[in-house]
Amino acid sequence: MAEYNLDVTTGGMQHAGTWDNIYVTLFGTEGQSERTELDNFGPDFRAGTTGTYTLKTSSSLGKLLLVKVEKDPFLFSQDDEWYFSKLLVKTPEGDAILFPCYRWISRGEMVELRGGKAMKVFEEDHPLLIDHRKKELILSKSTYQWKIMAEGLPHINHCDNASELPAEIRFSKTKATELDYTKRKIGIELKLKRLIGSAEKWERIEDMKKIFWWKKTATSEYVAEHWKEDDFYGSQFLNAINPNVIKRCSELPPNFPVTEEMVKPFLEEGSSLQKEMEKGKIFLYDQKKMDGLPPRAHNGEPLTVTAGLCLFYTNLENKLMPIAIQLHQQPSEQNPIFVPSDSETDWLLAKMFIKNADSMDHQAVHHLMNTHFLAEVYTVAALRSFPVIHPLYKMLFPHFRDTLYINTIGRTSLFGPDGAFSKSSLGYDGLQELMRRALSKTTYSSHCLPENIKARGLESIPNFYYRDDGLRLWNIINSFVRAVVEYYYASDSEVCKDTELQEWICEIFTHGFLGNKASGFPTGFRTVEEVIKFITVVIFTVTAQHAAVNGGQFDYYSWVPNCSLLLLKPPPTTKGQSSMNTILETLPDVGETVSFIGMARLLSETYTDVVPMGIYPEDRFDEPAPKQMIKEFQAELSFLSEEITNRNSQLEVPYTYLNPAEIENSVAI
Ligand code: FE2
Repeated sequence: MAEYNLDVTTGGMQHAGTWDNIYVTLFGTEGQSERTELDNFGPDFRAGTTGTYTLKTSSSLGKLLLVKVEKDPFLFSQDDEWYFSKLLVKTPEGDAILFPCYRWISRGEMVELRGGKAMKVFEEDHPLLIDHRKKELILSKSTYQWKIMAEGLPHINHCDNASELPAEIRFSKTKATELDYTKRKIGIELKLKRLIGSAEKWERIEDMKKIFWWKKTATSEYVAEHWKEDDFYGSQFLNAINPNVIKRCSELPPNFPVTEEMVKPFLEEGSSLQKEMEKGKIFLYDQKKMDGLPPRAHNGEPLTVTAGLCLFYTNLENKLMPIAIQLHQQPSEQNPIFVPSDSETDWLLAKMFIKNADSMDHQAVHHLMNTHFLAEVYTVAALRSFPVIHPLYKMLFPHFRDTLYINTIGRTSLFGPDGAFSKSSLGYDGLQELMRRALSKTTYSSHCLPENIKARGLESIPNFYYRDDGLRLWNIINSFVRAVVEYYYASDSEVCKDTELQEWICEIFTHGFLGNKASGFPTGFRTVEEVIKFITVVIFTVTAQHAAVNGGQFDYYSWVPNCSLLLLKPPPTTKGQSSMNTILETLPDVGETVSFIGMARLLSETYTDVVPMGIYPEDRFDEPAPKQMIKEFQAELSFLSEEITNRNSQLEVPYTYLNPAEIENSVAI
């Protein structure tokens, strides 16, 4: 007789437990066990508990290969799903082998689990496991299929709505309910105020403060007070929601004829634009990729989308100040260059149009496409290419956990044809065209933060916390990835012969970057170094970069005059004609304003089952080395978190979005 002890852990979330019968069969190199029901005295499989069961066999099964777990319906039970976390099998030989599951199991469903240490395809030597691995991947490829959302954009998972998503990547039930709840709550609150759908214009900007009663943050209040100030305006291109766009300017573009006379009053006394450019203190935001995009119609009239140029100067106080704005690409008399000494409302309008185009670039390109959609590509490719026993599946899955769910929901409620983003000046078609242009020009290098910062010449611009925190995070992620990848890949030749790894990157190149070689994204991996770099990009993108472009949405979008996705009038073509009334007519009406604020709130909500960056609540690795690497990663992150908190305590507007404690482990909202 041989005795196996089985520790069966049920998830701790609501409704995770089950009354149904659970059966287990063990498969080893020397045979298989009987199909055995796990049944102790009293209730089994309650949420958050681990039950220990004994399974007897006539002799040892040899090396354990697979565990089959089946769930049968219990006669009178109403329950139908069980969240099965993990199984720890203690063998008669004294080994303890972990079999992770971490998924919902329905009635009548059966799962076959691999256990023990992570294995790459070329390391498999047992026919049963070779066969199991093949079958697992065939099943994955039919479970996760690619679909084209729109020509020229990254491909998406094939499920049209979240309820069709496979069990292992669905949110816990709590989060799904909360998401619905928040949406409803916002709708109700606003309806109570009879604001949604109101076509009334704002009579005074201050009136917008009346809809602020239901949510405030220290930063959103700061924005409402300081949005007109130039230094605060400039700082937002470094430390707000779109820190991805300005570049050092050493020569003015020929279509932006700013003269010395125009900007001299705003520079250091006795200096010149030329000298300041030479000193590296002039920066440019060129919105040329917006040029010619088709805007949507509003009340039968096409809206105006500008493709502006904004020049900035780092002054003696180290503040980044806007000093000249031209709102269209082609210089002409009807396209004046605005400067801070123009009338207050002319200058304000010019700044608002730059922000309007920027908000659409932020949401469509830097938020949706570069984080949400690419995260989806990395995820679908991984689910199709890696079996769960693969070391990179174990490492990456926690960073992909919530992405398909949130993207599938978002495609209808947010960025679908009737979603909130379609109410922007560009509308659904214009935003898609913007994403298409951006994807066709995107480069691998721009997704690697150190290269991105260098290419934009922003290595030494002062008070750039996105860069400071982002580079620290990049290095911490890179060290963690290096440790894990070098542990599992002893040489470049192991990288080359891992056909699953090669398939992963090939699918990403084909379905994410549409086979565009000019992007510089890898088409395959030849070296360990290439794998380390790419996985650093992936984890940085789905954690830090997403947090950088997602976290501040309520802070910076809820005060709509500061940053509006929609502007209703064209910008001024001559100076000195505008008034505060022009600004009120240009801003969205009452109903549109509140729907943008509602969206900003929904996207900045904190939910109860948030998994912070570097926290891995699921035990997926069985061997000690990667567990130790995770501990070191966590220690580094927590040290950085403390440093950022200390730094922020000294700042008038704290930069919190890249504090590891505030970053989620996957793109989840
Ligand atoms: Fe997001």
